[in-house]
Amino acid sequence: MASSSSNYIIEFKIDVIKTLKIVGISTGVLTAIGLGAYYIHRRSQSSKRVILRDEVRNILRPFQLTEEQLRRVMANLNTEMTNALKVDNSVENDLAMFPTYVHHGPSGKESGEYLVVDLGGSNFRVSHVFIEGRNRMRLNNKIFLIPHSLLLGEGEKLFDYIAECLQRFIDDNKLSVLKTADYKFDLAFTFSFPCQQKSLREATLVSWTKGFSCTSVVGNDVVLMLQQAIDRRKNLPIQVVALVNDTVGTLMACSSNYRDCKAGVILGTGMNACYFEALDNIPKWKGARDNQTKQVIINTEWGALGKNGCLDFIRTDIDRELDESSLTPHQQVFEKMISALYLGEIVRLIIVDLVQRSILFPGRMQKSPSIRPDYNIFLILRGSFYAKHVADIENDTTDDLSTTATILTSIGIHDPSYDDCFIIREVCKTVSLRAAKLAAAAIAVLINRLNMSSVTVAVDGTLFRHHEQFKQNLSRTLGRLVLRAHRLVLSEDGSSKGSALVAAVDRRLKTSPIVYEKNLPS
Ligand code: BGC
Repeated sequence: MASSSSNYIIEFKIDVIKTLKIVGISTGVLTAIGLGAYYIHRRSQSSKRVILRDEVRNILRPFQLTEEQLRRVMANLNTEMTNALKVDNSVENDLAMFPTYVHHGPSGKESGEYLVVDLGGSNFRVSHVFIEGRNRMRLNNKIFLIPHSLLLGEGEKLFDYIAECLQRFIDDNKLSVLKTADYKFDLAFTFSFPCQQKSLREATLVSWTKGFSCTSVVGNDVVLMLQQAIDRRKNLPIQVVALVNDTVGTLMACSSNYRDCKAGVILGTGMNACYFEALDNIPKWKGARDNQTKQVIINTEWGALGKNGCLDFIRTDIDRELDESSLTPHQQVFEKMISALYLGEIVRLIIVDLVQRSILFPGRMQKSPSIRPDYNIFLILRGSFYAKHVADIENDTTDDLSTTATILTSIGIHDPSYDDCFIIREVCKTVSLRAAKLAAAAIAVLINRLNMSSVTVAVDGTLFRHHEQFKQNLSRTLGRLVLRAHRLVLSEDGSSKGSALVAAVDRRLKTSPIVYEKNLPS
């Protein structure tokens, strides 16, 4: 790492007493001196503190949310949820609150063989799931990469590609062997985008999120589009039986083990939640209302919160800049403050701001005659800083911040000074903490709405799975915001297993009488 060239004051706090003790109690003088010197060196390194300049503090301050602000976010989210349950109004309501037509969790009596296609991020997964009763499941899956051109191209091509991958999966695993000529696989389609459903197998895509923007899909029934692509292949014996949002899969998979699991949350590339709501609380519900259907899972699509300004009181200039330059300006405002797709970009924009103010890499970016082209790439390339970088830098506990330096070097910022690394770690911590606090505020609303004596929330997504600090901050904040007993449980393979369960519950209900679950939300 280059030595610091900036004007920050560096404090060296050496723990003199501990150091003297070490030296004092040692018998071998030379060994003691050696050890002592080493110890002093280590202590001095680890206790270096860069005093942040006021300018840095001022830039980071709007990202530091108070409990009062979080409670206001909770109140606004709760109001928007209630409003959107009354009537569908995509202009006035921030949220969609889509009924999913999933009325029951698994009873343990489900069984059978299912295929699942899981599309929601930059790759998609095909799974073959066996449900063997009493919640035992076997799963075999394969991840297929989606060529970038398909994400932005003609929608029909995307669906044809999915059908092609399904064919490959069935052939490679010889799944059709021993099946009768008229056998058809039931397929659950985990499709993690906002869809207005008319039934379990009719779902109109309302808008793309997370960087997808294939043409001719918005406004169309995606179940039909997938079925048509499957049928175009002539020899692919598959019927699509259910459309499932990833949050719903997450909830279903977890609820087979936890009877009080009534909510599912994704904190990953995108972010969203679903929960069981009593039909009596959904004035806009037009579907069946009888003994068998007293509740339904609502896909909140809460990433859209803020569309009409209710988050403006905490949005920063950086949030606005990120939004304006995104593929979907003014949409998914809440998601853009929290999810993994955007966390790195928020940090990058703050870094760029600090560079432009000559606080970071002073004298080495614009002014130096030997500007490295890769510095400029970092400065202008949207999305070049990932959430994983944020997590790794935030967790950097090395004395010399060498992890941070290595990451910065890997993205083209060569020889960052200790001060640069220190400031960037502060930025990562601040942005990640804000995201965790906001996610906690949202989950707190779910827990309060469920109004149960204790509730399990199923969670999946990279931020929860791999970003340890984020997870800790989330749990800590949640504990402060809700008094009710709750636990967050990682839902393993939720969006595949849970979707198969949705199809399985549907099959069971068609053939056998209803088994009522306890712990319905009141
Ligand atoms: C989508 C949701 C999805 C979430 C997590 C959001 O962008 O709108 O439908 O559940 O990402 O994948």
